[in-house]
Amino acid sequence: MNRSALKQVNPSFPLLQVAMDYISIPPALAMALKVADEVDIIEIGTPLCKAAGLDAIRFMREICPDKLILADFKTPDVGGLEAKMAFDAGADMMTVIGGAPLATVQSALEEARKQGKEMLMELTGVRDIIARAKEWRELGVERMVYHRGWDEQDAARQWNENDKDTIRQLIDMGFKVTVTGGLNVELLPFFQELPVSIIICGRSIRETPDPAASAREVRNTIARLWGGSHTPPTSSGSNGTSALNNTAPMAIRYAVSEMGLMMTVDGRDCPGCDSPRRLCQGTQTTIHCPAGVSADNVVHTIGQFFGQSNAIGRVSSDVFFLDPGQLPGSSPHRVIELLTATGHALRQLGCQIDVGAGVAVANQIMSI
Ligand code: 5RP
Repeated sequence: MNRSALKQVNPSFPLLQVAMDYISIPPALAMALKVADEVDIIEIGTPLCKAAGLDAIRFMREICPDKLILADFKTPDVGGLEAKMAFDAGADMMTVIGGAPLATVQSALEEARKQGKEMLMELTGVRDIIARAKEWRELGVERMVYHRGWDEQDAARQWNENDKDTIRQLIDMGFKVTVTGGLNVELLPFFQELPVSIIICGRSIRETPDPAASAREVRNTIARLWGGSHTPPTSSGSNGTSALNNTAPMAIRYAVSEMGLMMTVDGRDCPGCDSPRRLCQGTQTTIHCPAGVSADNVVHTIGQFFGQSNAIGRVSSDVFFLDPGQLPGSSPHRVIELLTATGHALRQLGCQIDVGAGVAVANQIMSI
């Protein structure tokens, strides 16, 4: 369970959180797959929350079942509902903006407690932090995010001794403090004397040639500066499945949508992976044949391109399936071949299919 998972961690040893500040889901998933083994918490960044909402959380939960996930909603109102939405979608933690009314803080906190999850106050823009912190403490808030925002960084705001004093006061008041805002390995020693709980890095991990190596370097630096070692906490959503096992079906679902095909789920039309109505289960994706084409023909023609395989099959006269779970090892290469074969087969049968768009998105999701 996540609250207890977070509490088991030695408070003198900060966890590493990576921020996915993207504006669409596929690059966030691709990046998560690259760095998941090196970080403790994956953040659905505020831009991604706004661009893709709860689906971003759901997909991240699907491909990273063992990781803690934070939804950086920075909620200003309707706290209980937004917290419930984030947690129900699979997040372990969510944030409320420091300027929110106490009633909003309280309702989000109540929902977090009800679900055994965490709500963090986000301090961006809060001027009287200690005064507000006293009020939040009375409500029972335990965690906060001390943040040097992007716009402040653009305006040349540097970390300084006042920040350190405030963070120390917050920790002395009993808060567990996350620090973030343009952090990298060079800046970490500045915080070394503070027992912060979580360190967030975004661009200094994502925007490097080898994000996994960068995350590892941050993690090793944290270990060197703060000492100790720990077993990363895992999410309550964990079912022990490896992240990789989930990517091939997701890549297929995204790709067939990009190709312009319509999936079916339990007889209902599925409007695609970006939809809250997406109900796919397991590794099989069932797809409507385009008008005028039979499933027998589709399966036969895909087989001509791909070879006979249990990964392709007929469901009904006008529905076929693709199942990467039937491909030995579900190697990304074979998944792309399966998609390419499907696209070319349908084209040969006279359908307008954008094979390139489908393959591109599948590659992005599986680019590990
Ligand atoms: C922006 C954020 C970012 O996620 C946070 O600042 C971390 O990003 P970076 O390390 O790239 O500054 O919350 O509002």
